[in-house]
Amino acid sequence: MSDPTDSPASPWGGRFNESTDAFVQAFTASVGFDRRLYAQDIRGSIAHARMLARIGVLSNEDLLTIEAGLTAIRQEIENGRFEWSVALEDVHMNIEARLTERIGVAGKRLHTGRSRNDQVATDVRLYLKDVARELDARLVTLMHGLVDRAEAEAATVMPGYTHLQAAQPVTFGHHLLAWFEMLARDRARLADCIARADELPLGAAALAGTSYPIDREGVAAELGFARVAANSLDAVSDRDFVIEFTAFAAILMMHLSRFSEELVLWSSQAFGFIELADAFCTGSSIMPQKKNPDVPELVRGKTGRVFGHLMALLTLMKSQPLAYNKDNQEDKEPLFDTIDTLHGCLRAFADLIPAIGVRRERMREAAVAGFTTATDLADYLVRRGVPFRDAHAIVGRAVAMAEAERLDLAALPLERLRALSAVIDEDVREVLTLDGSVAARAHYGGTAPVRVREAAQTARRRIEAGALQRSG
Ligand code: ARG
Repeated sequence: MSDPTDSPASPWGGRFNESTDAFVQAFTASVGFDRRLYAQDIRGSIAHARMLARIGVLSNEDLLTIEAGLTAIRQEIENGRFEWSVALEDVHMNIEARLTERIGVAGKRLHTGRSRNDQVATDVRLYLKDVARELDARLVTLMHGLVDRAEAEAATVMPGYTHLQAAQPVTFGHHLLAWFEMLARDRARLADCIARADELPLGAAALAGTSYPIDREGVAAELGFARVAANSLDAVSDRDFVIEFTAFAAILMMHLSRFSEELVLWSSQAFGFIELADAFCTGSSIMPQKKNPDVPELVRGKTGRVFGHLMALLTLMKSQPLAYNKDNQEDKEPLFDTIDTLHGCLRAFADLIPAIGVRRERMREAAVAGFTTATDLADYLVRRGVPFRDAHAIVGRAVAMAEAERLDLAALPLERLRALSAVIDEDVREVLTLDGSVAARAHYGGTAPVRVREAAQTARRRIEAGALQRSG
């Protein structure tokens, strides 16, 4: 059967109109996805009703039936007994219609002094604040996992890289704490954007405010908002807080994708630095030897959708005239998918980090093979009066010699080194060892094991200090 909405106007015009309306109804409906906001919608409605009763617009009797009705509806939704209707367009009208169905005329009084425009802006802000607390907890779990591993690997030496070429020895603990720093900034970005979103739109009504003597501060306090939105036109229309949240999410995913990339590289045969637990990998249906790092690969891949959502939201808001436009309904799917993606990726990483097997001897071998203590030899020469540029050249010749003879720098006979520079003594050995090299970098922010242990302890205190402000 052909879809009547595809046909041009025809003799069965009456029927066509009806079908077109049905299509438009489905096209414009958001209840399929915004039903996720039901708990926040009900919370907002109860706070609004209480305020209306306080200012005498609603009788106490009506307030009690409204509260009881909304509470019962929340249970219906949570028990899966609520019948969502596309004809009622969105979560707001579905709940309101059901309320009137349950309690009669009092239900029709709830929407006094309010519009879906300030209602939806309130719901999304409340929802984002709830979500932020959950995501913050996930970030904290992951950060603790990193700190624990970092402390345990404070003295594990690996090659540090620039250009993916072995550069200088670092400790694995120090490397892991680099990831901690990125996540700490991500966490601060989350708290920061939530603090800005923490204001109450209700009272803005459709766009111009309302003629009732409303108490917006009271509603804000009851819903746990820090402030009341200062301009009604702005309150109902901007979604910059959704964009900011998604920008935070995009940056976090960018970090996780880099981390994923390292896990993929490190677990490859070529590096062999780590072993990912079987639970985080899958095999190949054809190649029996394969163990694929699916989880980090997928996190890396999911980064793309979050970047896409950020671009979608920016484009959604671009050029919208004040105040509310239906365009704004399109904010929800990108936002919800961003949230789901973050939940999944943060959980995957939090589970994965403690389950990584570290192959310390492979890391050490790679650091040796990469002549990573070459800079230490140059610094040694400088301490003995050789200008740095000359020292650089001397060490370059030492590396070429070691490479030609397939020897580690530390294994070059002393007389060969002395032939390159007479200032070199027996004590050069210490400088050329990996452990000597990392131990020497003991300044604040350095890779020395003692510093890494200290940084891990400080990191734990910073996690405690950085908690999201709890409001509401
Ligand atoms: N479902 C709408 C949204 O998500 C609610 C607000 C609709 N307001 C309106 N005047 N059409 O944005």
